[in-house]
Amino acid sequence: MVNITTEKNILEAKADVLVVGLFEQQPLSSMMQQLDDALNHEISNAITQKRFTGELKEICVLSTQGKMPAKQILLIGLGDKKEFTLETLRKVSGVAAKEAREMNAKSFANALLLVDFEGKDEKNEETKALAIAEATILGLYQFTHYKTVDKEKIKKIDSMILIGNNAEQISKGINKAMILTECTNLVRDLVNEPSNVVTPSHLAAIAEKMAKELPLKTQIFDKKQLEKLGMNAILAVTKGSAEEPKFIVLSYQNGKKSMAIVGKGITFDSGGLSLKPEEHMEDMKIDMAGAATVLATMKAAAMLKLPITLFGVIPTCENMPSGTAVKPGDIVTGFNGKTIEILNTDAEGRLVLSDALAYTEKELHPELAIDLATLTGAVIVALGSHAAGMMGTDQKNMDLLVEAGEETFERVWQLPLWDEYKENMKSDLADVRNISKIKEAGSITGAIFLQNFIDSMPWIHLDIAGTASLNDEREYLPKGGTGYGVRLLIKFMEKYVQ
Ligand code: BES
Ligand code: ZN
Ligand code: ZN
Repeated sequence: MVNITTEKNILEAKADVLVVGLFEQQPLSSMMQQLDDALNHEISNAITQKRFTGELKEICVLSTQGKMPAKQILLIGLGDKKEFTLETLRKVSGVAAKEAREMNAKSFANALLLVDFEGKDEKNEETKALAIAEATILGLYQFTHYKTVDKEKIKKIDSMILIGNNAEQISKGINKAMILTECTNLVRDLVNEPSNVVTPSHLAAIAEKMAKELPLKTQIFDKKQLEKLGMNAILAVTKGSAEEPKFIVLSYQNGKKSMAIVGKGITFDSGGLSLKPEEHMEDMKIDMAGAATVLATMKAAAMLKLPITLFGVIPTCENMPSGTAVKPGDIVTGFNGKTIEILNTDAEGRLVLSDALAYTEKELHPELAIDLATLTGAVIVALGSHAAGMMGTDQKNMDLLVEAGEETFERVWQLPLWDEYKENMKSDLADVRNISKIKEAGSITGAIFLQNFIDSMPWIHLDIAGTASLNDEREYLPKGGTGYGVRLLIKFMEKYVQ
């Protein structure tokens, strides 16, 4: 945990490193002039000698030689002033924090709040402090708790001092960042943990613990109860596994407007009898990212006391091959009575979600349901890891989600759900098939399958297979679980309840 405090005077910040941002080809601000004077013109010398130009994310380290409490200055380039946005602020904050950690700093002061920029983004100190604080904590995230050798060599920042004027606004921003990052990092931890630790029972235990600590209620169904309810699509997926499936329902009631979030919780997706190739099969421990995002968003909504009624629904189990596993060609009747021909056991996410969405509509009656699922490899082909694929029946709220995505930079990109795509999901023997007859538009046909299990509930599907986990780190996103979705959904709900 990084402790964050505030301080007004840049010259008095007591920390190992002081982070200062400079634009390309811009004169020093009066505050920077003061700092430059205090440092015997070290900064302006670095610029005139072209050791530092201000190019985006450029780094230059200067010694303060005892002229102020901070030992070193870390200059970071902010790039072109006209191009600068809140997201650039997040990016440079993440890069600077990691650079300070590399320099072995235990503490650093951050003067990026003083950065003044144009453009349409909000620029009050609360918003800027939130952006800096969230990117700092998210950037410094490390998943190290399985390392037992040379543990003391792992570098760690303990605290950051945020330099700025309006202490009240700044601490508001910091407090919000603390909650959002704690919850985002919870998703990352759950996604990064191996599947022998994060089992369906483990997710259920987290839900129960959250319900004890926060104003949340939880209901957890086991296999017997799923049988009684007729959730045969989930039961088909879990059949080959030795782990007990769970169906988790969380509720938070603090407002008139209601909504449900539904998360795919496959704690390991081997593909089942339609077994995945061995290459990268280990990555399929991330197939519960939707579930983790739902848990963490419930937690964040309760901690932030959002004025909303929010349901969190998580169908969770493993997808394994065995003598008891569901077989290609098997037909089951889901919770809403529709029959499904399971032609590929690796298209299991849509099966567990079909029961979960039908249950949500029938039992919880939310005004809107958003599901999050690492549903298809096809969405990675379409959008890579920079946006989730979005499909649904509620255009107004999809537009709102696009806005929330731009603001949090957890972006979504809409794909069509046209009737023409429905044809190839019709089964000869049952009502629907779980895979399309042809290998085209895989993400859309996945969503079309889900649509079969919803009657009239407004619904949005987010395919997060590309955004939930990364192969390489980014400015404030680590390699592995990204925690995508918590900041997006909280921002969306803030707009949705207005
Ligand atoms: N969990 C996978 C999708 C996935 C792929 C998530 C890559 C994260 C990264 C899903 O259950 C799956 O296997 N989907 C199949 C569907 C196909 C059989 C119609 C796919 O995408 O190949
Ligand atoms: Zn699968
Ligand atoms: Zn899957």
